[in-house]
Amino acid sequence: MTTAIIGVGNIGSTVARHLVAGREAVVLAAQDKTHAEALANELGPLARAGSVNDAIGGSDTVVLALWLDQIKELVPEQAAALENKVVVDPSNPLGFDESGQMLRTLPDNQSAGSIVASLLPANTHYVKAFGTLSAESLAEAANREPRVALFYATDDDAAATTIERLIRAAGFDPMKAGGAAAALRIEMPGGDLHQFGLNGELLDLDGARDAAARKATA
Ligand SMILES: NC(=O)c1ccc[n+]([C@@H]2O[C@H](COP(=O)([O-])OP(=O)(O)OC[C@H]3O[C@@H](n4cnc5c(N)ncnc54)[C@H](OP(=O)(O)O)[C@@H]3O)[C@@H](O)[C@H]2O)c1
Repeated sequence: MTTAIIGVGNIGSTVARHLVAGREAVVLAAQDKTHAEALANELGPLARAGSVNDAIGGSDTVVLALWLDQIKELVPEQAAALENKVVVDPSNPLGFDESGQMLRTLPDNQSAGSIVASLLPANTHYVKAFGTLSAESLAEAANREPRVALFYATDDDAAATTIERLIRAAGFDPMKAGGAAAALRIEMPGGDLHQFGLNGELLDLDGARDAAARKATA
């Protein structure tokens, strides 16, 4: 089982480090291939670097560790290669204005996940995950006791099985927030189950279960 990680910035590099520490094989790609090569060298034999095409072609699962605008460009170019893969999407509906200020790029009731899923071939196994904490918290919180929970959202059983394995390998406990529509709850800004919607708190599995149920009973 190999996981392609497209993008080796804040989120991609953190996910790659955690997966390799959890004995998962990864293949890394970036816009500048030297960035992927440098990280693969640091991570050792379970990691290698390749082009985006190589990485997707040589993997079962693909993590799109890119900004939403970059995903919107890359997915149509790679649509055929993504067929039948599990696709993991950590993106938030964020972009930058001309002055470099970060801003929400979608209406409040529209998730980045709904956009990404709509661009993928129908036979991909889509899951929203690995974007529910800041990159800094994600880097620091692996393998704590008790384990920190990471929410995911999917309608797809194969994607759920895969992401549960990867979240555990990364040193966290998986917690399903709901179907793909629950992406809205785990993205930021606005998601009540994103770390920033939880006042920065990191939840264990019991806390995550309570938080996920809270809105349902509110
Ligand atoms: N940062 C956070 O705290 C955080 C938390 C949760 C979720 N997220 C989400 O995670 C996603 C990634 O954020 P980030 O902070 O990790 O971004 P980032 O640090 O800017 O990294 C983006 C990566 O994407 C690569 N890339 C861009 N276009 C590409 C292309 N066409 N083909 C291959 N690689 C390409 C870049 O390559 P180069 O290295 O060559 O430039 C870079 O490695 C975003 O959607 C964000 O909303 C971020």
